[in-house]
Amino acid sequence: MTVSETGTVRKADFPADFAWGTATAAYQIEGAVAEDGRSPSIWDTFAHTRGRVKGGDTGDVACDHYHRWREDLDLMAGLGLNAYRLSVAWPRVVPDGRGAVNRRGLDFYDRLTDGLLERGIAPYVTLYHWDLPQVLQDAGGWANRDTAHAFAQYADAVAGRLGDRVRGWVTHNEPWCAAFLGHMMGVHAPGLSDLETALRASHHLLLSHGLATGAIRAAVPNAQVGITLILGPQHAASDREGDVAAARRGDGFLNRWFLDPLYGRGYPADMLELYRPHAPAFESAIQHGDLDLIAVPTDFLGVNYYQRSVVKHFPGGRGFMNSTQLRPPGEYTAFDWEVYPDGLREILARVHKEYAPPVLYVTENGAAYDDRPDTDGQVHDEDRRRYLERHLAACREAIEGGVPLRGYFAWSLLDNFEWAEGYSKRFGLVRVDYETGRRTVKDSGAWYGRLARGETG
Ligand code: IFM
Repeated sequence: MTVSETGTVRKADFPADFAWGTATAAYQIEGAVAEDGRSPSIWDTFAHTRGRVKGGDTGDVACDHYHRWREDLDLMAGLGLNAYRLSVAWPRVVPDGRGAVNRRGLDFYDRLTDGLLERGIAPYVTLYHWDLPQVLQDAGGWANRDTAHAFAQYADAVAGRLGDRVRGWVTHNEPWCAAFLGHMMGVHAPGLSDLETALRASHHLLLSHGLATGAIRAAVPNAQVGITLILGPQHAASDREGDVAAARRGDGFLNRWFLDPLYGRGYPADMLELYRPHAPAFESAIQHGDLDLIAVPTDFLGVNYYQRSVVKHFPGGRGFMNSTQLRPPGEYTAFDWEVYPDGLREILARVHKEYAPPVLYVTENGAAYDDRPDTDGQVHDEDRRRYLERHLAACREAIEGGVPLRGYFAWSLLDNFEWAEGYSKRFGLVRVDYETGRRTVKDSGAWYGRLARGETG
């Protein structure tokens, strides 16, 4: 049994300057979708399209963080957290997608930044957490190369305003989700189902990361810039050749498609070969110099980890992937995601060994459970507390193994709008009563605060 299956964790097990944070994203918490000049994003359109989001839920109000941000910052400060990963909404800052900057939109993030610093919390700003201005989607969205240039201009505007106070910058959150869930599987905005469009989107997302990194560095000389990927081990269901090859394809699809070009290896040849018959025009989207831009050296890599996959060869399964995913016996969250903490240790160790980013952060990790307030009004979410503890033990093991891990951001500070699942899935360390907006720190949140303050163990 590994330590991450049994372990308890103490603050002293982690580096003294470790970032103890939580993460959120603009569309999932802010609400106020029509205030202060914000324009609609692709998620407003998607959520307002019948049948796209469970229960017809939308982010119109969400956690009303746009108005309650002081209370939310006080909650973090009360827990003793020293870091917070937020995302900026592009349609607030540049409502037309490109061109004029909306000062009132930036004012919100300016106040938020000051509020965090006043409370001793370091802001880590993500520039794109999936809320593309709809007006850019109307011009082709991420499948259109111009969007990458528009993103760099937007990045410059945000960095120019916040860069005197914000050091940590994440260009993109989980480009795999933006590209493939949004353009191939059709389950996220903009709701398209075409592999070639998804591949073009993935390339332009990566290109925009390279362009934006340059823009941030030019505006903020001491910026620490990185990108956040969703990563997870792909385990073969058996040691049969077919299953091993299927797991390798799964790894190419989720992990290597992004890691390889970001770390200077170009797109993986096996995946290009696999995609080519189904997306013959994709490679013409890669222009001379793009791969150098994408491989711009960065200061850190953000890893979002939720689960591993157990993959089996299955002709005709998952389209061109010819595979299926098994559901091994074990513990599962309310999302039906396997609880597998050792996968976090494994993926951190592998990324360190094979790609060697100078610093790593776990920029998201957490679990949805069907928690409800008890008769005392409190949420006794021992399942989530254990989940966090075991994954933090996996982080500690990774550090002991030499991984330069500098922070952990629990997903999420608040229960929030969980994309296609609407409000049906709760990930928060703090419960949100969506009727009243009332916040209640769950047991898991109180425990995480004690850990961050060094009061456990
Ligand atoms: O809620 C999402 C988040 O926006 C991106 N990473 C995964 C989380 C849980 O699904």
